[in-house]
Amino acid sequence: MGVEFCTAFAREGAQVVLADWSEGSVKVACETLASRGYAVHPLVIDVADENTVRPAFDRLVRELGSIDVLVNGAGIRPVGVSLDQPLADFEATLRINVTGVFICAREAGRHMLVQRSGSIINIASVNGVRGVTGMAAYCASKAAVISLTQTLASEWAPHGVRVNAILPAQVETPMIAEQVGAERVRREERIPLGRYGKPAEIAAAACFLASDAASFITGHPLALDGGYLAFGFRPAVTPS
Ligand SMILES: NC(=O)c1ccc[n+]([C@@H]2O[C@H](COP(=O)([O-])OP(=O)(O)OC[C@H]3O[C@@H](n4cnc5c(N)ncnc54)[C@H](O)[C@@H]3O)[C@@H](O)[C@H]2O)c1
Repeated sequence: MGVEFCTAFAREGAQVVLADWSEGSVKVACETLASRGYAVHPLVIDVADENTVRPAFDRLVRELGSIDVLVNGAGIRPVGVSLDQPLADFEATLRINVTGVFICAREAGRHMLVQRSGSIINIASVNGVRGVTGMAAYCASKAAVISLTQTLASEWAPHGVRVNAILPAQVETPMIAEQVGAERVRREERIPLGRYGKPAEIAAAACFLASDAASFITGHPLALDGGYLAFGFRPAVTPS
């Protein structure tokens, strides 16, 4: 999804910094962006390590002038039944998905509050409001991201900084590559629009939330889910 976020913001004329902890991913993503005609600034960083995030963000502000938008999209999603889940996996998920969001928001927010403007978009998930078997750590982490979003939005609204969350259902990315065949059909049946989302659709919503068109929106959990959260039960006969 990160590549599509960068593409969408670059298309709008933004100076874009593409960050990931995998040097290889950063390289491939920057090459993809270049093939689309966009030059972005690469940044290799562990979002959950405050000792590298803070100096990196300070340096970006010195070099680029400001941080106007932060999209917090880094995440992991271990799958496995709770009784067998190693504590290390659980804690790693919270560390990256929650602590990482907090650290990056705090370090970007530090600059945004001074400039009295900014928009932070945290990528949570529909799994933050609906439990899913085999994903205890992931669901808990995404619920925490929604809660964190609301709290930061409340704290920083008086300073001109907006904080929102996007809650995607399944989106076509490597993160859900294991969902194929009958498993995928089963999942698509839970989505009234009948398909998975596209990364570009999530990126378009992030651009909207970052824009002046969303100037009165903060603390909002925006579901991009093809109707997944609205759907309750499919009767035997579906009205045509
Ligand atoms: N794909 C989906 O169906 C889906 C649905 C709902 C929410 N989401 C969320 O959207 C976000 C993006 O997901 P995606 O599908 O693009 O996943 P992805 O696995 O393709 O990308 C996630 C990226 O995060 C990076 N990352 C992991 N830990 C990191 C760390 N500590 N520091 C820096 N980078 C790190 C990985 O290297 C990877 O490139 C995630 O937060 C995910 O939970 C995805």
